[in-house]
Amino acid sequence: MLDRHNRKVNYLRLSVTDRCNFRCVYCMPPHGRAWLDHSEILSYEELLRLITVFNKEGITSVRLTGGEPLVRKGIGDFVAAITALGVIDDLSLTTNGSLLPPLARELKEAGLHRVNISLDTVNPASFARITTCGRLEDTLAGIDSALEAGLTPVKLNVVLTEALSEKDLVYFIELVYHQPIAVRFIEYMPIGGRCINGFDVATVQKLLSLAGREMLKPTVAVRGCGPARYYQFPKAKGTFGFITPISDHFCTACNRLRLTADGRLKPCLLSNKEIDIKTPLRSGASDSELAEIFHEAVQEKPEGHTLCRASGYPAFERSMFQIGG
Ligand code: 5AD
Ligand code: SF4
Repeated sequence: MLDRHNRKVNYLRLSVTDRCNFRCVYCMPPHGRAWLDHSEILSYEELLRLITVFNKEGITSVRLTGGEPLVRKGIGDFVAAITALGVIDDLSLTTNGSLLPPLARELKEAGLHRVNISLDTVNPASFARITTCGRLEDTLAGIDSALEAGLTPVKLNVVLTEALSEKDLVYFIELVYHQPIAVRFIEYMPIGGRCINGFDVATVQKLLSLAGREMLKPTVAVRGCGPARYYQFPKAKGTFGFITPISDHFCTACNRLRLTADGRLKPCLLSNKEIDIKTPLRSGASDSELAEIFHEAVQEKPEGHTLCRASGYPAFERSMFQIGG
């Protein structure tokens, strides 16, 4: 359906848990936060009902997020159940990759189309520092397992932090020459976590072109429905993408709603506005009443966010791990 600014909303980012086995510094506050109680988290049955209702209102793409979605038990069966609905054309998942190796094949067979994996650096010590408790080798094994299982196109999310070095850029250049991977650099958003900013987008583009010894050429979008702008070296299999919520925001093309693990619809990532759908869902709302709440959330989508305005931005009530990116 269309929102008040004439944007078609067809994409749902669905957070299945706020839990995560990593604690990336830009995603979680340093002092941590209590996880949601299991009873507060929507059950798979509840989520399937909402997907069915929302699909009738125009949602055809679903991305499973977290926290880390692979820490939730039964995620493979949930993917299979979404597939069995037969109405979602594009089913994807965002993960830190560490738990993917034993699950990648099962997820593919269950009907998952593709994955995005976070990888901010390939320096093991920097990786451990940024993720607090992650191991680089686990995430690299996760990327390999995604490629082997055909969860493609595999996209990597690289948040622009001080952990990103020129050596990492050389690694990513090698990778995109040889693998059909999209490496996307993401500007840090100040939501709940903290980080020291690293290279800016223009510097990354310049360094890539210098080190790759070819000009990066703009290219058409890789499969997906996101805001990245993609570039390619002429002879490379993969691409580079840039996601710039701060320096050049993409609100005019925003096509998404988010559903938090505790059942709140978020019309905009960068606003505190939330609409509770869990309470009505658990107190017997009909499908048409749930559809009404979906409409309300779509109509609440703001024209754009305020992060780059001189007036500053609000104090965010949720951290990224409680929204799913
Ligand atoms: N700013 C930018 N990107 C972030 N992510 C998590 N927190 C932030 C932040 N504060 C990214 C992660 C993950 C995706 C869901 O969002 O790297 O890949
Ligand atoms: Fe976990 Fe992803 Fe947040 Fe890192 S960015 S703490 S892997 S949810």
